[in-house]
Amino acid sequence: MASRQRLERTKILVTGPTSQVALPVTLGLAASNDVWGIARFSDAAARERLEVAGVTCVTTDLATSDFADLPDDFDYVLNFAVAKGSDDDWDHDLSANGESVGLLLAHCRAATAFLHCSSTAVYQHQGPDHELRETDPLGDNHRVMFPTYSLAKIAAEVVARTAAREHEVPTTIARLNVPYGDNGGWPSWHLLFMQSGHPIPVHPERPNRFNPIHEDDILASIPALLAAASVPATIVNWGGEPSSIEDWCEILGELTGLEPRFEETSNTIGAVTVDRTRLLDLAPKPTVPLRDGLRRLIAARHPDLAR
Ligand SMILES: NC(=O)c1ccc[n+]([C@@H]2O[C@H](COP(=O)([O-])OP(=O)(O)OC[C@H]3O[C@@H](n4cnc5c(N)ncnc54)[C@H](OP(=O)(O)O)[C@@H]3O)[C@@H](O)[C@H]2O)c1
Repeated sequence: MASRQRLERTKILVTGPTSQVALPVTLGLAASNDVWGIARFSDAAARERLEVAGVTCVTTDLATSDFADLPDDFDYVLNFAVAKGSDDDWDHDLSANGESVGLLLAHCRAATAFLHCSSTAVYQHQGPDHELRETDPLGDNHRVMFPTYSLAKIAAEVVARTAAREHEVPTTIARLNVPYGDNGGWPSWHLLFMQSGHPIPVHPERPNRFNPIHEDDILASIPALLAAASVPATIVNWGGEPSSIEDWCEILGELTGLEPRFEETSNTIGAVTVDRTRLLDLAPKPTVPLRDGLRRLIAARHPDLAR
């Protein structure tokens, strides 16, 4: 059963269920659905957590699989897996991130809806004051940190758009901004910088504004994003209230007593902040206040640092 608020007793396939973003989503959905997960499962502890929660884990390499050994009767597919190009291997990353979407969508063409998790890394950087709309120019804003990421995510969107039309599978492409929570995220890295006394790199065009969204709010928006799926694909930004690296590091400082230090450099990702009009039309408004989410993150991941 599915509604805009809740998924129950449905059969769901999650790719990349061990990831920072998808692990809490997969565990949350497994409480009331038949959830399957595919990855290479290089993180054995995460696989065990999933299996204990009842998730059926099937070892699959997205760069090479044709998915023939998977069932094809999923109600929903959540595509969270990503190869981030740490080896600067473009061929691999276009296969793992792009080709896989077309093959998976074709394999699961009986699905009621397909949610493709994209990223606001697909936008052309436009500075801190422009809230990027879904129709704004695309670009390569993550190149300095992950060389293949932005372009592979754009390629994956195009494959998802094409396959959705070809197989008539209602699809949502949701461009996620800065996910964070008990399972980590960018603020968690910033906290490690603060703990070790290293300056946090920030782009000189300040403030370095983004739209952090807590993992609880990500999970809560999944039914609505699936309900919004369409042919041609629905494309929507996915983020919370605007905040900046400077702001959330300040809050982390207040919650831990650590002092954030910033170092301006253009050799880092600049502000990527999004317009949320379409999101708030389609999905519930995020509810976790940033300070509460960060407090919980510290308690879960760095309890020794909590004040
Ligand atoms: N984290 C962020 O700040 C952020 C921001 C915006 C959007 N997103 C999007 O959110 C989604 C999850 O990102 P994340 O950062 O949480 O990911 P992550 O922690 O880096 O995890 C990547 C996941 O993909 C799987 N994977 C990678 N290569 C694979 C392959 N060849 N075959 C099968 N599985 C593979 C990994 O498992 P194995 O390695 O074990 O295979 C893992 O489950 C992605 O779509 C990403 O673009 C993330």
